[in-house]
Amino acid sequence: MRTQVGIVGAGPAGLMLSHLLHLEGVESVVLETHRRDYVEQRIRAGVLEQGTVDLLVESGVGERLKQEGLAHHGLELRFGGKGHRIDLAGLTGGKAITIYAQHEVLKDLIDARLAAKGQILFDAEALNLLDIESSPKIVFTHKGVTQELACDFIAGCDGFHGICRPGIPSSILRVHERIYPFAWLGILAAVPPASDELIYTYHEQGFALLSMRTPEISRLYLQCSPNEDIANWPDDRIWDELRLRMATRDGWVLKDGPVLQKGITPMRSFVLEPMQYGKLFLLGDAAHIVPPTGAKGLNLAVSDVRVLTKALANFYQAGKKEGLERYSETCSRRVWKVQRFSWWMTSMLHRFQNEDTFSHKIHLAELDYVTSSRAAATSLAENYVGLPYD
Ligand code: FAD
Ligand code: PHB
Repeated sequence: MRTQVGIVGAGPAGLMLSHLLHLEGVESVVLETHRRDYVEQRIRAGVLEQGTVDLLVESGVGERLKQEGLAHHGLELRFGGKGHRIDLAGLTGGKAITIYAQHEVLKDLIDARLAAKGQILFDAEALNLLDIESSPKIVFTHKGVTQELACDFIAGCDGFHGICRPGIPSSILRVHERIYPFAWLGILAAVPPASDELIYTYHEQGFALLSMRTPEISRLYLQCSPNEDIANWPDDRIWDELRLRMATRDGWVLKDGPVLQKGITPMRSFVLEPMQYGKLFLLGDAAHIVPPTGAKGLNLAVSDVRVLTKALANFYQAGKKEGLERYSETCSRRVWKVQRFSWWMTSMLHRFQNEDTFSHKIHLAELDYVTSSRAAATSLAENYVGLPYD
């Protein structure tokens, strides 16, 4: 098998890259280890930045998103038993975020790729990368048969646990990492969201978040220990803890409902540099991880895709290599600004181990500042809706 760009992974990075390359006349093959139904049902992120929404719409995969996505023009920061609204649109010249589940984005992209006769091989696990510096090949198994995909370039879109990252030689790679001493316990519940906008809560017992997927389905998270056993969290305990942390002095009510799904997500910040070597380029979670507090993981993957698409289009259409040579450097500025924002939101809103009363008062003072200073609120808002692209 041969193609121009061999893409490992059918997550947001891999599918969006394949879609945008197709629009630029560049051919690709996507290899995905899981089955299609698994990819289309896996519950993950839900918040799309304005720029991500614009790109999906402009590139022709935004029809369902426009109909079913929930545009949010503000969010709430809750602490000390009181909510404070951040007017995202008012502070950013009208920008918003949109709630639309990651797996719905993936369904739309898969439909678009298959309608355009694009090649996505599900149940196809990449095992190894060969000749990355000269004529790259991806060794993979599909339906029990081991094969090779020869290509001009390899796009490693295979997430944090993929096989592409080790393709960057250890002699040149640098890893910057922070592992947080807490995790998120997340539930999906069949109950209408108790608020029209997201609520990020700081409480002495830890962080809590109210989010949603549709007008009928809520998504809620609780800070917990990273070693927490989900078996210790029957549904009633989860709802009680959410109510405790999110309680307001004016008697706000959080209704419970059937829990459809629950799981624990560890939290880390991780950046690998450089994001390229020879003809291999890493995108999305394969190259960087952010803690979910800033809702940036999917959006950052899409921003890498923008950069690589432009560079590859310039190479194939005009023979220019500069964009490819500078891929990692170009991505790095946004990656670090998004890392900073995600780390800051995480630090402000979570309880760390052994925090004393001084730390608690600092959390409260920072939240008070962010919600009472227009300058500080604007900084949060412009990062949350997504920094502009140069
Ligand atoms: P992924 O979505 O991880 O896609 C990688 C794909 O590569 C997968 O489909 C995988 O099966 C495939 N693959 C891996 N290895 C191979 C191989 N050897 N061969 C072939 N295919 C392979 N972000 C938020 O903003 N909010 C959230 O609530 C949130 N929740 C999350 C929950 C979990 C459990 C995880 C893991 C992530 C979460 N994220 C969240 C982050 C966000 O979902 C990711 O940043 C985003 O999915 C990154 O997209 P990606 O395409 O880079 O990687
Ligand atoms: C979600 O809806 O899953 C979600 C929302 C906001 C976040 C993280 C996750 O910061």
